Amino acid sequence: MNYFRLKLNRALELKERLLRELLPARMRVNSLSDGLNNEILAMTATPSEHARYLRRVVRDAAFGARYKVLFGDIYQLAAATLPSFDFVTLFHLAEFAAPDPARRLDDVGLLTLFLAKLSAHGRLLFYSNSSGRRATERILAHYEARQALVLEEKFRSLLIYRAGRGDSR
Ligand SMILES: C[S@@+](CC[C@H](N)C(=O)[O-])C[C@H]1O[C@@H](n2cnc3c(N)ncnc32)[C@H](O)[C@@H]1O
Repeated sequence: MNYFRLKLNRALELKERLLRELLPARMRVNSLSDGLNNEILAMTATPSEHARYLRRVVRDAAFGARYKVLFGDIYQLAAATLPSFDFVTLFHLAEFAAPDPARRLDDVGLLTLFLAKLSAHGRLLFYSNSSGRRATERILAHYEARQALVLEEKFRSLLIYRAGRGDSR
């Protein structure tokens, strides 16, 4: 993670790194052999996806050394169980969240949680073609208006934000 912290100065650099390093690593391509050693925490609510991850780690422990996949509902996460992140991708924000009082979080709460967990030079990424994009745009506009989030760059279907100095609620 220090790798990113040290060199995240310019948007162009960020864009190139996202394409070359972060996104492939997140998708598990080359993450074992590229030597970047990113620590990746992902989450799925799909049992078959998690079962495939488990089978793979049982077969090859090294695969799970830096790539962890939690099974569960992301809307049930809490600050106390999460580390800080240099990059957070919330590509599916507002896609799956029917209002549910039994959940600990709604979409706004989820974004607030990960914003609070962002490292000083961290970035939050969203997917502008998401089926939840309309609701996500409304939520992001709210955060931008409060200067809690600052849009750094739009690149293809990526929306890249950094934390602002404003109120994050
Ligand atoms: C269309 S797939 C996209 C997977 C893609 N690799 C990604 O993460 O951007 C949507 C993923 O979101 C996960 N998902 C949907 N609702 C979720 C929830 N409430 N909590 C955690 N994961 C959820 C699904 O289990 C699935 O892995």
